[in-house]
Amino acid sequence: MSTPQPCTTAPALCGPYDSLRDYVAALDARGRLLRIAEMDADRFEPTGFAYRLIEEKGFHKAPAFLIERLKINGRWLEGPVLGNAFPGWDGEALAFGAEPYTADQAKARAAGTQLLEGLLSKDKRWPAIPPETISAAEAPCKANVRLGDDVDLESFAWLQTNPRDAGRYLNAASVFMEDPELGRNVGTYRCQLKGKNRVGVNAEIGQHAWQFIDRARKAGRKSVTAALVIGADPITFAVGTSKITQLGEDELNIAGGLRRKAVQLVKCETSSVRVPAHAEIVIEGEIPVDRMEAEGPYGEVYGYMGLEKPENFFMEVKAVTYRDRPLILNSFAGITKLTLMLAQNVSNKVRYREQIPGLVDIYRPIETTGVTLLSIKKQQAGEGLEAGRVIAEGDIFAKTVIVVDEDIDIHNFTQVFHALGTRWQPHPAAELIESTKGFPLDPSQPQRWVTSKMIIDATRQFPDEGGPAHWPEVSRVLLEQHSPEVFDLVDSRWQEYFGQ
Ligand SMILES: Cc1cc2nc3c(=O)[nH]c(=O)nc-3n(C[C@H](O)[C@H](O)[C@H](O)COP(=O)(O)O)c2cc1C
Repeated sequence: MSTPQPCTTAPALCGPYDSLRDYVAALDARGRLLRIAEMDADRFEPTGFAYRLIEEKGFHKAPAFLIERLKINGRWLEGPVLGNAFPGWDGEALAFGAEPYTADQAKARAAGTQLLEGLLSKDKRWPAIPPETISAAEAPCKANVRLGDDVDLESFAWLQTNPRDAGRYLNAASVFMEDPELGRNVGTYRCQLKGKNRVGVNAEIGQHAWQFIDRARKAGRKSVTAALVIGADPITFAVGTSKITQLGEDELNIAGGLRRKAVQLVKCETSSVRVPAHAEIVIEGEIPVDRMEAEGPYGEVYGYMGLEKPENFFMEVKAVTYRDRPLILNSFAGITKLTLMLAQNVSNKVRYREQIPGLVDIYRPIETTGVTLLSIKKQQAGEGLEAGRVIAEGDIFAKTVIVVDEDIDIHNFTQVFHALGTRWQPHPAAELIESTKGFPLDPSQPQRWVTSKMIIDATRQFPDEGGPAHWPEVSRVLLEQHSPEVFDLVDSRWQEYFGQ
């Protein structure tokens, strides 16, 4: 296991963080947070800003932003609303506590990946540290407690992100449930604001929360007791948004392992469900299992407006507890980055390495949902397409699978497109799967859940795969071989070239 380096900044600003606000302070200290005094959400200014921010700065270099005050339904509400909360690979490395901090995206990603790979056990499992419970008196999320008729969710600055959305959404709510047999589940689902004490809960079919509710229904129970947590610490939030645990496996054990210290919990006011004590907002209630109601439409992660769901879960809210001036995490789905991705990336690499021995890296970019990229060290003819087949079959999101050689950085889209343009011959290095299971939110599907898939083998084809007898050398490699110091020279004079 690689030992994390000591943090070089003030101890309070070192990751992993106990709360989202500690993390936001650390981003601020490193110039990765933009503070905006106010925005007119009735004119969708936050959403326009989010689009423009990504267009101008790029998906990974865009900073997190905090809007202090917002006009919503004609009145000014106090935020702050937090957008693009986990900016770039540097924001990921910071959250996981990889030090020293670097703004260089490739270096930050490498440092974060190395840290997480070092935490894996010999049999490639995440470490587990069980959560611990503290008293309500010690728990910051109990600073304000509203029960029963005193609950008014409409007074918080939840946003309607798209004009066509069904309304305002708590769109980054981690739903905590405890089941006598299955244990605990933490999953993040969008929740439509439906009134002062009512929210929708959109666990898609098959999600673990959906399975908890389904089991409760089959067991003859009337409702499932749950809590929606807004603004848990970054790692707990990320684990609740990732597929790195099995049904019945406690996400909080893994969150503790990744944090290298236990997640502190506190008991809810109205139930025995326990929630992160340092969360910004906790909403307690019951999800009926025998009653459903309409929910959506909502602008989905693919960047398109989804369908209204005639029947979906909802929660009757009994209590809300929150920190002073709570942060409202807004996901800006389909626009900005939504969560920390490193743990999921490392998990995918570990999982697929068992099936693809030559796998170097695998990446499913959120900004191009539907495309999965992988690089391999190809030894034998056919391995490129074979690797692509494994991913196309194993990953419901992977509609277009692009396989490249190990010298291509799959996080650099220019290099991937360069490989497509220069190394790929569509025939015979492609394979079409005409019909298989697809992710239902993909707007291109004529029939939900059914998709075709394409595997593109953009590795250099060997002669016995139909490739050329001789591949020319790469010009950049020739330069580096001849002048190994060339990029050090240029980097050392970089500021000078620009007159700085
Ligand atoms: C900001 C955000 C919002 C999400 N919203 C939903 C949602 O509305 N419904 C859903 O099924 N999954 C949603 N997801 C994906 C789930 O959080 C993810 O699949 C997670 O693994 C679900 O937890 P589970 O495995 O315990 O079911 C969202 C993810 C993020 C990052």
